Amino acid sequence: MTPTTDTDHQHDSRPVALVTGASAGLGLALARGLAARGWVLILDARGEVALHQVAAELGQHTEVRAIPGDVAASEHREQLAAAARAHGRLDVLVNNASTLGPAPLPPLAAYPLDEFERVLQVNTVAPLGLAQLLLPMLSATRGAMVNISSDAAVEAYPGWGGYGAAKSALDQITAVLAAEQSTVRVYGFDPGDMRTAMHQWAYPGEDISDRPTPERVVPALIGLLVGSRPSGRYRADDLLAHSAGHS
Ligand SMILES: NC(=O)c1ccc[n+]([C@@H]2O[C@H](COP(=O)([O-])OP(=O)(O)OC[C@H]3O[C@@H](n4cnc5c(N)ncnc54)[C@H](OP(=O)(O)O)[C@@H]3O)[C@@H](O)[C@H]2O)c1
Repeated sequence: MTPTTDTDHQHDSRPVALVTGASAGLGLALARGLAARGWVLILDARGEVALHQVAAELGQHTEVRAIPGDVAASEHREQLAAAARAHGRLDVLVNNASTLGPAPLPPLAAYPLDEFERVLQVNTVAPLGLAQLLLPMLSATRGAMVNISSDAAVEAYPGWGGYGAAKSALDQITAVLAAEQSTVRVYGFDPGDMRTAMHQWAYPGEDISDRPTPERVVPALIGLLVGSRPSGRYRADDLLAHSAGHS
């Protein structure tokens, strides 16, 4: 990690991204992609050891601030926002951290309501909470925020009602924020199936080695962040097919 001072920050025009859930899966793949492009990173995850390993790896390429914590905790969200303010700019917020809820996935008729409340706190309330804290900074840079969605937000898969309802509510938050914000691009991004710990959690004991890695969708996600597409909900497969058609 490169030590910096406030004076450095005043003259630092490198773009800054806050990525939640960056110690594994899609968040880690995205953080690696942004670090390779020289972005300054503010990263979180609950597990301190894994997060600090990521910070040590990416700190060889860029400035990284790793802040362990749970996005569902308002104090932790304040810490993340304070880190962005201390840096002096924020170009991108990626609400990626998410929970699947209990596994095996229970049917809604038997879904423990305390578990449902937890899923809503992590997947829906926390992204809105971070948006509320950080939209002014994103507006100052004419930046972008991305809420990571899922096909479970729009399809009625048995067992996926808790997670899907939370992602569906997140999609609506994305859509309304997009209508309300004229100076920040607001995106939903459905990455499709990915070979990650969350996916394995959804399919315990099953071989998921045929699913693509999260690295596959990172070019589409970074393209959204640095491009000028209008606010809205995008599927990784559509964006990748579109860019393949132009290559
Ligand atoms: N994998 C798929 O097939 C798939 C499909 C559609 C959509 N998605 C979405 O894609 C995004 C990334 O999923 P993934 O599969 O990459 O997940 P993952 O491999 O399980 O990684 C999740 C990351 O988020 C962190 N995290 C989890 N809960 C957190 C919390 N409460 N506060 C802070 N950090 C937290 C985890 O670290 P800690 O556990 O240490 O906190 C980890 O770094 C999610 O929004 C997910 O809903 C995934």
